[in-house]
Amino acid sequence: MKRREVLKAGMAAAAFVPLRRSAPEWADWRVTGDRINGWLKDLSRFGANPEGGVSRVGFSDADVEARAWIQPIMRAADLEVSIDPAGNILAKRPGADPSLKPLLFGSHIDSVLSGGNYDGDVGTLGAIEVARTLAEKGYRNRHPLWVTLWCDEENGLTGSRGFVGLVDQAELDRPSLRDGIRLGDKIKKIGGDPAAMASYRFAPGSIAGYVELHIEQGGILDRTGLNIGVVEGIVGIRSFDVTITGFANHAGTTPMNERKNALLAAAELALAVDRIVKSRPGRQVGTVGRLQVKPGAQNVIPGEVNLSIEIRDLSMPKLETLWREIEAAGDAIMRRQGTSWVVATRPSNVAALSDPKYRTTIGEAATAMGLTSRPMPSGAGHDAQDLAKIGPMGMIFVPSVGGISHSPKEFTKPEDVTNGVNVLLQTMLRLDQLSA
Ligand code: GLV
Ligand code: MN
Ligand code: MN
Repeated sequence: MKRREVLKAGMAAAAFVPLRRSAPEWADWRVTGDRINGWLKDLSRFGANPEGGVSRVGFSDADVEARAWIQPIMRAADLEVSIDPAGNILAKRPGADPSLKPLLFGSHIDSVLSGGNYDGDVGTLGAIEVARTLAEKGYRNRHPLWVTLWCDEENGLTGSRGFVGLVDQAELDRPSLRDGIRLGDKIKKIGGDPAAMASYRFAPGSIAGYVELHIEQGGILDRTGLNIGVVEGIVGIRSFDVTITGFANHAGTTPMNERKNALLAAAELALAVDRIVKSRPGRQVGTVGRLQVKPGAQNVIPGEVNLSIEIRDLSMPKLETLWREIEAAGDAIMRRQGTSWVVATRPSNVAALSDPKYRTTIGEAATAMGLTSRPMPSGAGHDAQDLAKIGPMGMIFVPSVGGISHSPKEFTKPEDVTNGVNVLLQTMLRLDQLSA
């Protein structure tokens, strides 16, 4: 049977069939490692911080400049570039078969405050490198291939939630706690169209699938010396903005037993989060990562504290139980300290499992190139968990040296970057050939 007939027969029998015995011509195609690693270095100029990483927070000037820099690189890979209403950059390569839905792959280029040069960047530039390689090879893809650059990943997966219709008007109208600017205005700043978001939504079944390459951000691959992680699932995240109100008063004249110190309540609350999260078996984690003390003066008792609470686990019911315990502990702390608290629940990121067939495909692609791999969970959140709501999802991890991430010290060796991008290339080729 010729390859086209094999494919037709396979597609008739099932939506997804294993790779046939004789190796296709693309089996030994590889990306250009120097090019993708060079782009990574170039991208690290935007928002560079003195510690050697980047502070390229979503919607910042550095983010806007990096987005402008990346678009010609997408075009040079023969991609048609557009910005969707949510502010995501979609770079498309048309497919040969009009009946097929698009296969998506990409990541993000915004960073945390004082972040590193690899989180998100490897997957975004890696996807462009894959597209560039396909263009150079003159590959005729069956599916439309979309390289996706999701906006504002680090502040709650904003772009990918917008893509699947999960950013509502209330969220667009809410001013940011960091800078007071409305999310809708920020999306406009990067070329999105918030007014069109109410009717913008990729529904379940509207894409063929999504694959994201990312650094591991933990130490498993580095410790075990393995090349590739095949992600089994991504943790769910629940997060809360907390305002604690006490009473600002003179730090010299107010007796110790007459104070309503919001910072003491905040300190007790942070300890309670840690104690409650550690109190049961499992891999759940909890963090108070942002704390703002007002008025923030040496000689004034803190009258108000704003802080964040974030909890993560693969089980959403477990997160609900943990949050109820934290709430009860918080109420008791506020009574004891004579303070009060208000909690604003941020949009939650639901835990997501990757698609078993995508896992198999990624593992096979790695093995075929002589790379070692293992299945593993992701403790970090990723846009992939939103994409999993509308189609099959897979994620490829490459090692993070020392398991360090969200830090200027974040580092992935160039050869590991290249390995990951090659696995992405071979995975996309397999999915394009074999899935409906
Ligand atoms: C994203 O990187 C997150 O896990 O917070
Ligand atoms: Mn990331
Ligand atoms: Mn991150």
